[in-house]
Amino acid sequence: MVNPEIEKRKTFAIISHPDAGKTTLTEKFLLFGGAINTAGAVKRNKANQSSTSDFMEIEKQRGISVATSVMGFEYNGKRINILDTPGHKDFAEDTYRTLSAVDSVILVVDCVKGVEEQTEKLMSVCRMRNTPVIIFVNKMDREGKDAFDLLDEIESKLNISLCPLSWPIGQGHTFKGVYSIYNNHLNLFEPDKKKISTPVIEVNSLDDENLAQFLPEKSLSTLKEELELVEGVYGAVDKEMYLEGLLAPVFFGSAINNFGIKELLDTFVNIAPSPKSREAEERTVLATEKNFSGFVFKIHANLDPNHRDRIAFLRICSGKFERNKFFYHTRNNKKIKFSNPMDFMANEKSIVEEAWPGDVVGLYDSGTFKIGDTLTEGEKLQFKGIPSFSPEIFKEVENRDPLKTKQLEKGLQQLTEEGVAQLFVMQPGNRKVIGAVGDLQFEVIAFRLEHEYGAKAHFRMLSYTRSNWVTSKDPKKLEEFLKRKQQHIGEDKDGNPVYLADNEFMINMTMRDYPDIEFHKTSEFK
Ligand code: G4P
Repeated sequence: MVNPEIEKRKTFAIISHPDAGKTTLTEKFLLFGGAINTAGAVKRNKANQSSTSDFMEIEKQRGISVATSVMGFEYNGKRINILDTPGHKDFAEDTYRTLSAVDSVILVVDCVKGVEEQTEKLMSVCRMRNTPVIIFVNKMDREGKDAFDLLDEIESKLNISLCPLSWPIGQGHTFKGVYSIYNNHLNLFEPDKKKISTPVIEVNSLDDENLAQFLPEKSLSTLKEELELVEGVYGAVDKEMYLEGLLAPVFFGSAINNFGIKELLDTFVNIAPSPKSREAEERTVLATEKNFSGFVFKIHANLDPNHRDRIAFLRICSGKFERNKFFYHTRNNKKIKFSNPMDFMANEKSIVEEAWPGDVVGLYDSGTFKIGDTLTEGEKLQFKGIPSFSPEIFKEVENRDPLKTKQLEKGLQQLTEEGVAQLFVMQPGNRKVIGAVGDLQFEVIAFRLEHEYGAKAHFRMLSYTRSNWVTSKDPKKLEEFLKRKQQHIGEDKDGNPVYLADNEFMINMTMRDYPDIEFHKTSEFK
């Protein structure tokens, strides 16, 4: 059954190592879609070198008043939803969760820097769900790596087959343009940050005599040689393999100069998947099913103390979402309706009457939602795909103001529900341990505990650097293990036992000593 509302939706994220050009590319897409008129409208989502207070200031400005978390726009009859991901690596978990809500991804690689650490991590998360990926090699106006070397590096480091759909003519100061292998046309380069279209020359063959007036002899002969090599090495694009996440089409360009962006966007709209199906614990849910279902993948708190509401971002998986209709909150076993659900179009948000699979709606929340919560029309469903990953830094929470114990507890609970970091409870004494990827997370928690909850906390560094969720087919063996290793065991937010270790060596030793125990690097192992 085909539903045109579902078919027209393309929900994706642009991901990259910080500074590769994610924000610039997002902005150019919005310009092409007519969703914004001027460059600079998309707020930079970064705090790379800045202090905590700068970071908080940026967060406050972004807050929930700017809808940069989701940017929707219409293009070529399609509804495009771009889900924004945080630029800072300390908030990588937020990005991982957002990736659970998209149907495909565009990965931006800087041609000078090649594959960077964050790129590898993000790609490994895409691989977990076989998310289709298109790669955009950016900054071709700079002297970067040789295109073939770069593709080799991407292929080996990201462990994915590639298929170039465009090819650069020169690079840096010799950059002349891009030849579109997909459409057989030549796109010449003119640095221009404002213009949104570049002249396109249709060619039937590279032997076309007219080409000489556009390209110097040397560039043309190099292009021909390289294209022959590309054809020999990479072959034709296989859409099925792309949709299965096994093959990534590659485009070259320069986002800041608006170069190569239209080819990328047009091809994306053509080949990227519309919402299909989603795995729930109980069954596979098809997007075309009549009944509504969806899950919360992100909760954004308003950092303005005068407006303490939160917004839960709900990804719709099947059926139709309607305003003021009662839906079933499966974890709370309660029915709720939403009178002001929000839709996000570029930089504006408005009340939405109905929404379809692939859409993201913002729900005002006063503490009803946790990340991963599922809404349905009555069926008991729990969507999979929002795992927690092992944090790398662990710190014990010390209360610095005994009169504010309640506030501290509430703050810790709410902030960890928002996914700012992970909370583990250890015995004896119900000690609270926060696990995070980066130090900035602890600073943000301390800042928010103080400013939003009036509580004061100090974080004491622990020696752990790894956590593994533990299970066993034999409940007795698990019980015995948990008892023996009590000083290393914490309980996660759902009450699952987690083994905390100082290093990989220690985990390996324990694995060897307890062969009946299974160790899991993410919380989603069911
Ligand atoms: P991010 O979201 O991935 O972190 O990257 P962002 O788009 O913010 O881009 C990072 C820097 O790279 C920016 O420079 C941006 O202007 C520049 N950039 C983006 N695309 C290109 C390109 O095609 N060629 C070149 N040469 N540079 C590009 P900045 O100095 O950090 O910021 P700004 O002052 O330019 O805004």
